Amino acid sequence: MKTTLAFDVYGTLIDTNGVLAGLETLIGAKALDFSKTWRDIQLEYSFRRGLMQKYENFAVCTSQGLDYTCAFHNVSLTDAQKADLLGLYRVLPTFSDVKEGLTRLKAAGFRLYAFSNGKADALEMLLNNAGIRDLFLGVVSVDDIKTFKPSPATYGHFLRQSGATGGSAWLVSSNPFDVIGAISSGMKAAWVQRSPEKIFDPWGIDPTITVTSLVDLADRLSESSL
Ligand code: LAC
Repeated sequence: MKTTLAFDVYGTLIDTNGVLAGLETLIGAKALDFSKTWRDIQLEYSFRRGLMQKYENFAVCTSQGLDYTCAFHNVSLTDAQKADLLGLYRVLPTFSDVKEGLTRLKAAGFRLYAFSNGKADALEMLLNNAGIRDLFLGVVSVDDIKTFKPSPATYGHFLRQSGATGGSAWLVSSNPFDVIGAISSGMKAAWVQRSPEKIFDPWGIDPTITVTSLVDLADRLSESSL
């Protein structure tokens, strides 16, 4: 069976810092710190909701994370400004290596899927807007099973939905928690280290390979005998 690749979306294909320009016009020099807090708290809310079994979809984590981030940075935004920022989140751009990397991997015969915490409709919109939806065989959302990565249930759900087996399926993610979750669930995993200062958690569970971009991934996987 052809190797299946499950691409994480936010932070791996799609650049969550794409809100920066919009944020800068609203809050100036605080934008970068604000964007980082927002992303971190969005993920923390997803982890906590998963642990507590208090599922609300990822857009709720994003929206409640925005309210928290405003309070944390002492920034006052109107409801309309918050709605604008959440609107930007629905049309975030890809990283610059994504289209070329995916196109090459698809041409090499890999089975490509998007696999994300986001809801399917939000993912379809993002990927269509970025012009990369057609490169994927399918989009798998954790929303089907009402929990979040890195619950083992989410990786099991991906394998069932894609018809792949753990040994022939790779997660591709820039998020170390996602890589560790996938490997712990029997998948292989490529960590996309998008900048040299990004740290991988020292849990003794290492990525199968580490790459710097999806173009690097295409180079590495086509060289190996997968
Ligand atoms: C996702 C989050 C983890 O797209 O970024 O699943």
